[in-house]
Amino acid sequence: MQYIQPKMYNVTQNLHLQETCLNAAFFVSFTCLLYTVPHQDTKSEARGGVVAKDEDGKSIIAPEWLNVHGPGDRTLTQGLKGDPTYLIVENNTSLAKYGINAACTQLGCIEPWNTVEKRFMCPCHSSQYNNEGPVIKGPAHLSLELANVDIEDGRVVFGPWSGTDSRTGDASWWS
Ligand code: FES
Repeated sequence: MQYIQPKMYNVTQNLHLQETCLNAAFFVSFTCLLYTVPHQDTKSEARGGVVAKDEDGKSIIAPEWLNVHGPGDRTLTQGLKGDPTYLIVENNTSLAKYGINAACTQLGCIEPWNTVEKRFMCPCHSSQYNNEGPVIKGPAHLSLELANVDIEDGRVVFGPWSGTDSRTGDASWWS
């Protein structure tokens, strides 16, 4: 008996050691796999864009969004740099090619969309902007900033606005 017990102990010890080694090997392999599988950026993400997120932080899928947001809708989403950005449904029930940054150009308060007045109305110092973002009542004097909107693989992607301000034809003040 004295010779058998140490042998059994060694067998059990070896099994534990093998199990530990297998677990470690699996962990190392899994971790390597995680870091070697490339992240698939959309074309817009590669150019500095971001996939728009809804209020729950989920990626916005254009067809799903248009199923529940009708013509003229302006709903806040998460845009570039996490900025609150209005996603706009055109009257032909497609998404507008631009999003409107909700930050007031006077001191940065977030503009609520007034569905009755059809304008953005600042709660801080009463500036107002029309339904596309140009200012119509001060003290603010600059239009709301725009972001570019693309659809890639069904997902809505905000990108930096480039070129002139399409609403006024002037150079965009924010880029
Ligand atoms: S922050 Fe909007 S008017 Fe002052």
